[in-house]
Amino acid sequence: MTYIEEPHSYAKPNKAVITHLDLDINVDFETEIISGSASYLITNNDASEIILDSKFLDIEKVQADGKDTNFTLGDFDEILGNPLTISIKKDTKQITVFYKTTNKTEALQWLKPQQTADKKAPFLFTQGQAILTRTWIPIQDSPQIRLTYNAKVQVPAQLMAVMSAENPKEKTPDGVYHFKMKQPISPYLIAIAVGDIAYNPISNRTGIYAEPSLLDKAVYEFSDMENMVASAEKLYGKYAWEQFDVIVLPPSFPFGGMENPRLTFATPTVITGDKSLTSLIAHELAHSWSGNLVTNATWDDFWLNEGFTVYFEMRIMEALYGKDRANMLARIGRQDLEEELEGFKDAPEDTKLKLDLKGRNPDDGMNSIAYDKGYLFLRTLEESVGREKFDAFLKSYFQSHAFSTTNTEKFIDYLNENLLDKNGITFNTAEWIYEPGLPENQAIIVSDKFEKVEKTVQDFVKTNTIDQAITTGWTPQEWVHFVRNFPEDMSVEQIKTLDKTFNLTNSSNSYIAMVWYEQAINHDYHGNNIDKNIEVFLTQVGRRWYVSTIYKAFKNNNKTDEALAIYKYARKNYHSVTANTIDDMLGYNPE
Ligand code: BES
Ligand code: ZN
Repeated sequence: MTYIEEPHSYAKPNKAVITHLDLDINVDFETEIISGSASYLITNNDASEIILDSKFLDIEKVQADGKDTNFTLGDFDEILGNPLTISIKKDTKQITVFYKTTNKTEALQWLKPQQTADKKAPFLFTQGQAILTRTWIPIQDSPQIRLTYNAKVQVPAQLMAVMSAENPKEKTPDGVYHFKMKQPISPYLIAIAVGDIAYNPISNRTGIYAEPSLLDKAVYEFSDMENMVASAEKLYGKYAWEQFDVIVLPPSFPFGGMENPRLTFATPTVITGDKSLTSLIAHELAHSWSGNLVTNATWDDFWLNEGFTVYFEMRIMEALYGKDRANMLARIGRQDLEEELEGFKDAPEDTKLKLDLKGRNPDDGMNSIAYDKGYLFLRTLEESVGREKFDAFLKSYFQSHAFSTTNTEKFIDYLNENLLDKNGITFNTAEWIYEPGLPENQAIIVSDKFEKVEKTVQDFVKTNTIDQAITTGWTPQEWVHFVRNFPEDMSVEQIKTLDKTFNLTNSSNSYIAMVWYEQAINHDYHGNNIDKNIEVFLTQVGRRWYVSTIYKAFKNNNKTDEALAIYKYARKNYHSVTANTIDDMLGYNPE
């Protein structure tokens, strides 16, 4: 295969490329350091050197085919780290790097017992996407690379280790774990978690890892996992990874979920007791096709991962729970998109699906545009060609590109050839993908339930009263939509009335709480001890989307000082990806 130039990796894979990793590491919670060796089988096109990506790693020694060899660490770049250039011979087949992580590592978050659910044992997890794997393993860290891996991992004896690979179901007596990922995956999908965790199956191919006190709740919450896999397979073909497990991480996990193959990493904030936020699982499962099986070649093509995944997520939700639920979710995404477009009104280039992130952190492109504009494009396409043709097309797209990467240009060619030209359909694909903003032709997403919710907001604003019978039986999505659509000039008295009636300040649903806190800040509401709740939430939860929404509300209302007062001590509980985002937003300099 030929690799295309991409701006976020130093590797030159057309010359020499890694194909398999043998990782042998020790996880030390005392020093908070991972140390050991990464050994690679390589495909060598007569090269005299091979270049890996590395960032904040201590490189001790490098070998080529078992003999010490020269290496250099090139200049440090804030975003990319250093190129690790290793001398090899034309016939070198294997290289080994002996290394240690440092306390600057960005992928790893080391947690003290107090930062976990059970507060008994420390915890470690990694986050590789987009370009953080290089901060815990020296590697060719481009999504175009695919490799299989084996790992031997030593952890403290009372803890269990799990990876994006075949996993143990029980602890070992000596804390040594062996892993095997036999399907080739991209480096950003290599992941490990270590903690006092246990396993409970849901079906013979799905199950949950969690800290003991959370395990039963998580199994109940995600009891539909097998049904999700079955309905996903019915839509777009066989699940390729054999096992689909979820690990529930401590609340500082910076994302809702991360689609690490065979083992999705998930935030505990979706465990609500009522299964209302499980579309997150459908989303991460969908990545088993869009993203993990067919991977974006560069981070400029991120929408190929996320837009397709949101589309697939909605289809799984529709298949299992019906159109009403799927359309509510789609409408929430539609509003997110509207708000993101508004936020980017001075940077229209960033609202294109195909991005140009050269010289920038790929994280800059990881916003609602890829997700929700990507979704709207695919849904509009579906409605133009008809569902039957569209489904057949998607199924063949996943099948024909399985275990490979693709970029936007290749996707467009494939789309023209296999769907549009074939059926004599014209569609403004280029406008959707290469132009900022939104084209005129957009699927209209209708939700009767949300229209009723909007009417309820309007009636309340006019009358100051709300008939509780109307809200009885509302799903959390309806509550979220209700709260997000308060008019700007709603009075603080009205906010107070709503809180007296519904006690939203103490909502046990993290999503409702988050949007309610945002409105409380917007409307300067301080009743019901809400300031304390906001502070506790920001201190315990590290999910970037949630906390950045709340800090942004402070900032937009000229309350940056209040935000900083909380952030200064909450920050130590955040993973680097969340801390970086909030540092930038609040202009905070940790040094
Ligand atoms: N792959 C993403 C998370 C991600 C994106 C990590 C960019 C690093 C860089 C994951 O699948 C995701 O989209 N998570 C969402 C879930 C939601 C859309 C259901 C999240 O974390 O909120
Ligand atoms: Zn995703």
